[in-house]
Amino acid sequence: MTVLVTGGAGYIGSHAALALLDGGRDVVVLDNLTQGHRWAVPAGAAFVEGDCGDEDLVRRIIDEHDVTAIMHFAGSIIVPDSVIYPLEYYRNNTVNSRALLQAAVDSGIRHFIFSSTAGVYGEPNATPINEDFALKPISPYGTSKMMTEKMLADAAIAHDFNYVALRYFNVAGADPKGRAGQTSRKATHLIKIASQTATGVRPQMAIYGEDYQTPDGTCIRDYIHVSDLANAHVLALEYLERGGESDVMNCGYGRGFSVREVIGAVKKVSGVDFSVDLAERRPGDPQSLVAGADRIREKLGWVPVHDDLEVIVRHALDWEQSLKTREVNAA
Ligand code: UFG
Repeated sequence: MTVLVTGGAGYIGSHAALALLDGGRDVVVLDNLTQGHRWAVPAGAAFVEGDCGDEDLVRRIIDEHDVTAIMHFAGSIIVPDSVIYPLEYYRNNTVNSRALLQAAVDSGIRHFIFSSTAGVYGEPNATPINEDFALKPISPYGTSKMMTEKMLADAAIAHDFNYVALRYFNVAGADPKGRAGQTSRKATHLIKIASQTATGVRPQMAIYGEDYQTPDGTCIRDYIHVSDLANAHVLALEYLERGGESDVMNCGYGRGFSVREVIGAVKKVSGVDFSVDLAERRPGDPQSLVAGADRIREKLGWVPVHDDLEVIVRHALDWEQSLKTREVNAA
């Protein structure tokens, strides 16, 4: 009775692996280490270096580790890169997911949890965004995830498994005990960038656009603590094991903060008044993305415990500091 966690050496996957281990489950991580790090795989999890698109390897892991459920985090996540390298994104996010699903179906896996994204909605003109809004992704990244959702829906009708696709809003923060955090080699996410600027890893940062139709002119997002998100995966697995119907669920808190508010929180919590430039709008940035977050609470009984921007920021800052120490020690 083991959970296979693809991408478990990466940011969200490593937190989910921790949450599973904390709950007493057995975990095997499959990660090709292109983005993740071997040291980020939580102690207590088995580890296999390899690709989730390698069907034979996945079938072997399922067999050898007695895997009964899969959480699929492995994938490429940088929206602007997906515009430049769309075929890479379709290969890594869609084609590899198809192979993973094939191996799962062949091996009789009964439960599947998929990392999807609010990016599947594109730029909805209403907020909050509910799960029944039309899917109109505006980047190859969003489309690559939407296509996997569709494959899952069709495969779950034809084969004997149930699934939950979790549509993440803006994931941030780090494990409160400091055991995991965001380690991506190429950081683009706002709270990570602002935390790196506050801790001196970057000399300065920029706000991408101040002329949006929002109260302070900057974009609004629904920032969710990564440990609350990890816990949602554990609850989703329990729901599927109880025989819950396959479903898609937004993962957000249902409230938004502007870019300026986030930067203000990072300055306040860190006590550092770092330099912030004003830059052009970043192509493809929707103005406001806030989750309609009722379904996940109702269906999974999910009760977030870190719904506080300053707590999210504190944990992100602590993690950046610990990474600096780690680099010093490694040097
Ligand atoms: N931003 C800045 N400066 C920076 C970095 C970001 O101003 O240095 C702004 C962005 O322009 C945007 C906001 O901060 O307005 C948030 O940007 P992020 O890069 O942190 O996150 P995104 O909203 O672009 O995307 C993330 C995920 C997507 C997901 C989306 C859903 O990467 O997968 O949240 O809300 F779809």
